[in-house]
Amino acid sequence: MTCAPPCNSASLTLGLETSCDETSAAVLRGRGEIRSLVTAAQDHLHQVFGGVVPEVASRRHLEVITRVVQDALDAAGVGFNDLDLIAVTQGPGLVGSLLVGVSVAKGYSLATGLPLSAVNHLEGHLMSAFLHYPGEEPPAQDLYPTLGLIASGGHSDLVLMQVPGKYRTVGQTRDDAAGEALDKAARLLGLGFPGGPALEKAAQSGDPGAVDFPRPETGHFDFSFSGLKTALVRHLQEHGEPRSEAERADLAASYQQAVVDCLIRGLRRAARNYRVRQLVLGGGVSANQVLRSYFTQLAADLGLPGACPPLSLCTDNAAMIAAAGYRQVSRRGPDSLDFDVFSVLPLTL
Ligand code: KG4
Ligand code: ZN
Repeated sequence: MTCAPPCNSASLTLGLETSCDETSAAVLRGRGEIRSLVTAAQDHLHQVFGGVVPEVASRRHLEVITRVVQDALDAAGVGFNDLDLIAVTQGPGLVGSLLVGVSVAKGYSLATGLPLSAVNHLEGHLMSAFLHYPGEEPPAQDLYPTLGLIASGGHSDLVLMQVPGKYRTVGQTRDDAAGEALDKAARLLGLGFPGGPALEKAAQSGDPGAVDFPRPETGHFDFSFSGLKTALVRHLQEHGEPRSEAERADLAASYQQAVVDCLIRGLRRAARNYRVRQLVLGGGVSANQVLRSYFTQLAADLGLPGACPPLSLCTDNAAMIAAAGYRQVSRRGPDSLDFDVFSVLPLTL
């Protein structure tokens, strides 16, 4: 990788992430050492609504962001004078939420003269598997071509990386994202919010083969999860609400297994088709233990290294944004301050 100023292995990047309902700031050293990571979650504010309310999310970001940034700097033992770069999420995400992070980052950049990097949130998720804390063994370097699976609340993307920074989305969902499908099922089963972790917990004591949910075929490498959700609705209409916790657990486990099977099937097909040298997992759903174990097994079956983020870095966090910003600046320098935010922002060449 070429490395233009201001980035080198000792440089410090302040990352900011506000694309959805986590206000997160991190200080990263070099390309992957996390010196601090502070995240303020908002689950308690959205719980009563059963989902993230955009206006509530952005107002909360506004309230807490400067405190979160200061806490991250303090935890790293640095001030703005010690930093070399600021990286912030530009999209995809909730526009009102993104605007808070980007406006604050631009303000810091103007006040300090620090260069700014506008980061694609999805690229951040692909970086999570390559981060580490001081004293930990750094994860193996990335190999190319790499195939990434990003499974989150808004995306189920198969991303081919031929060389660093060159992305091609070779598969995506035609309707609901994997996380969205899990969240909707959790709501239907009365398991609460956020749905993915609640469903996983309920599924632990269930039988994944108890109910034969569909694994919709789309051809190629795309996904489709809306039929799965409809199958659960129909099942509940026909059989009624689960009559016991064991029955609820069976439904949760069977549904979760169907989502995981679809994701792994797409990943396997694309990995074979593009003859990749590495698999990478990212996005909030990568915290799911069943998905993680199937991913690890698939990588082993294909004889490829499988990079999986630590649990603490699966969901939205600013360390991954700092890492993506660092790499982006290494490749093409910083961005000018007139960039916009985007609710939809594909990873492109
Ligand atoms: O990446 P993320 O934090 O935010 C987005 O960019 O969307 O992903 C959030 C999604 C939610 O749908 C949440 O239910 C899901 O990730 N999720 C999980 C787990 N933890 C979070 N899904 C399954 N199992 C989990 N343990
Ligand atoms: Zn995310």
